[in-house]
Amino acid sequence: MKDMRAGTVLPMPFDAHVHLRQGRILKHVLPATARDFGRAIVMPNTKPAVWNADTVRAYREEILECAPHGFEPLMTIYLTQQTTPEVILAAGKAGAVAAKFYPKHGTTNSDDGLVPEFFLAQSDWFAALEEAGMVMCIHAEHPKHIKARREHEFLKLFVDSRLPERFPKLRFVIEHVSTAYGLQVVSESDNVAGSVTAHHLVLTDDDVMGNHLNLCMPVAKSARDRSALREAVFQGNSPRIFFGSDSAPHQLSAKSKPEGSYGIYTAPIALKLLAQEFANASRSNNLSSFVSSYGPAYYRLPEEKRVSEVVAEPFHVLDPRSEPALMEPVRDPSAEVDEDAKTDPPPPGDRLTDPIIPFYAGRAIHWSVRYDR
Ligand code: DOR
Ligand code: ZN
Repeated sequence: MKDMRAGTVLPMPFDAHVHLRQGRILKHVLPATARDFGRAIVMPNTKPAVWNADTVRAYREEILECAPHGFEPLMTIYLTQQTTPEVILAAGKAGAVAAKFYPKHGTTNSDDGLVPEFFLAQSDWFAALEEAGMVMCIHAEHPKHIKARREHEFLKLFVDSRLPERFPKLRFVIEHVSTAYGLQVVSESDNVAGSVTAHHLVLTDDDVMGNHLNLCMPVAKSARDRSALREAVFQGNSPRIFFGSDSAPHQLSAKSKPEGSYGIYTAPIALKLLAQEFANASRSNNLSSFVSSYGPAYYRLPEEKRVSEVVAEPFHVLDPRSEPALMEPVRDPSAEVDEDAKTDPPPPGDRLTDPIIPFYAGRAIHWSVRYDR
């Protein structure tokens, strides 16, 4: 008889793009990321933004104070009008592994962002990033166009800029690639990679209509674009295409406003959903490179020694609207009490009355992660 618990063992996954927020929301969402991912590239679009050495140190400290033992946040800086080459070099020394471009007024907390044409002209910044050995993460959208065209229009400017050729030692990441054109741009230069989310592998523009919970930036595109993403990801041929969840928690009241806030909270389920989608495509063998190997290699991180196991067992995604008792921060039931832990886990009473609804809330995923490591 087939052992249904037989699963896939992989190096502990890496999330190349996550929003952890601050304060109470950070405490609420961090356990979900730290359960399934050993390391993550943490986005800097907090309020105020993380943009220099001091704010990098302070935010890292805030995360570590409530991080489950062993989770490693990898910090980034937000490129703003205040950025200078000196700011970049100092942030690199303070531990920032990447800088992030946000198009002004293009997404959540992007007031400090930049006009794309201005950003692409900052040669001094790119030289400093090269010198610091940092990665250039790009939110590749041009907000002056309709949402469906934003990625394409920004990337045309990026290609015209010839930045990858002009700065051959600088590694670029096109974040949350959502179009076939984005994949093409990634394929054209050895120093351009693309992160891909779980939600862009399953959603199309139809799923966003009338459902603000599925609204994110970049918006999900056509079925053709989604097929191109699925093919590239499941084939696993390119080491420059790797997983970045873009897990972006927003409370329900914000998601329910007329325009709705941009972001999908996928941290609790992304790895399980990927295991399911890879299995459905008969590509389970390629899951490990996508979620565990390609990203750390591009970021030149030390090898991950810890392992995880995904198993073919159902995982029920909680919907806090119908199961309020389960709105507590997720905890690892098998974890031993760590006497050296810097802080206690969040108290069980710390429930959000204005909940964050995870992607696939109320649905079952056919794959789980085994935590008895
Ligand atoms: O959907 C998104 N949410 N896209 C972003 O670029 C930002 C993110 C957030 O911070 O909520
Ligand atoms: Zn993001």
